[in-house]
Amino acid sequence: MELRHLRYFIAVAEERNYTRAAERLHMAQPPLSRQIQQLEEMLGVELIEKGSRPLRLTEAGEFFLAHARTVLDQVRDLKAMTQRVGKLERKLSIGFVASTLYGELPDIVRRYSERFPEVEVTLHEMMTVEQMQALKEGRIDVGFGRLKSEDPSIRRILLRNERMVVALSPNHRLVERQGGLRLRDLVHEKLLVYPKSPRPSFADQVLAVLGEANVTPGVVTEVRELQIAMGLVAAGQGITIVPESVQAMHHRNVVYRPLEDKHAFSPILFGVRHMDRSPELGNLLAAVYSIYDDLGIAYTPETL
Ligand code: BEZ
Repeated sequence: MELRHLRYFIAVAEERNYTRAAERLHMAQPPLSRQIQQLEEMLGVELIEKGSRPLRLTEAGEFFLAHARTVLDQVRDLKAMTQRVGKLERKLSIGFVASTLYGELPDIVRRYSERFPEVEVTLHEMMTVEQMQALKEGRIDVGFGRLKSEDPSIRRILLRNERMVVALSPNHRLVERQGGLRLRDLVHEKLLVYPKSPRPSFADQVLAVLGEANVTPGVVTEVRELQIAMGLVAAGQGITIVPESVQAMHHRNVVYRPLEDKHAFSPILFGVRHMDRSPELGNLLAAVYSIYDDLGIAYTPETL
């Protein structure tokens, strides 16, 4: 069996149609059908139910599809990492979600670069789901994101959980509330969530936290990014929920109030390709922990 058989089968299984799969693979349909037939003969089992339209996978086909994707992901990782090992210059590409810029990211990168000046560090702002793809394609080596994922080719290390806070305009009625806010206080509010896409995103994390507390806000408006949400809050157009480090973004017309609910937290995760054990990543993780030590931030240390 060759890797091309896996690629062909995944295209057919995803498109549920030979013509569309052939178009996607830039090949003609008859040789594609022959390759799938050859694959079934090699395996000695049917992967696609005979005569089904649109195509339906057999139980063996579903099993093969899941594992074929994992194998191709691993091949892609192997390629990216071998290229990385083979390169003489030392580089570290870091993906990050915008909110981490207001947390410890700048200090961590500065400390890392002071300790390892020979490593060329580049920073790329991208959402957590974009980081997953960029890690798999070798465009970044590590992603600092906020969403947990089930992707077997990515390892995510929890760095810390950050409390969520509510950002409000200074004359909002909730500003005067004593002793912090509860999610249930937001029930009639106009809530701004971000980013609108790609999903899932921090917007879904906020909506899940509200859902867990059985709270449905009055109106939910999705906006493109954090800065837009903050600008609209300043304009009195609604409230938004942000990780507490965003409070470092001082805005004349925005005030922050902590959320007291026990589950109103957003994680910061360190995401890497599963097999990647390069010293750059171990050293970066050590830089994160050394900043946490200096600031007295609690964490559970992990090794790569
Ligand atoms: C933090 O704020 O804890 C953090 C931000 C970015 C990368 C690592 C940690």
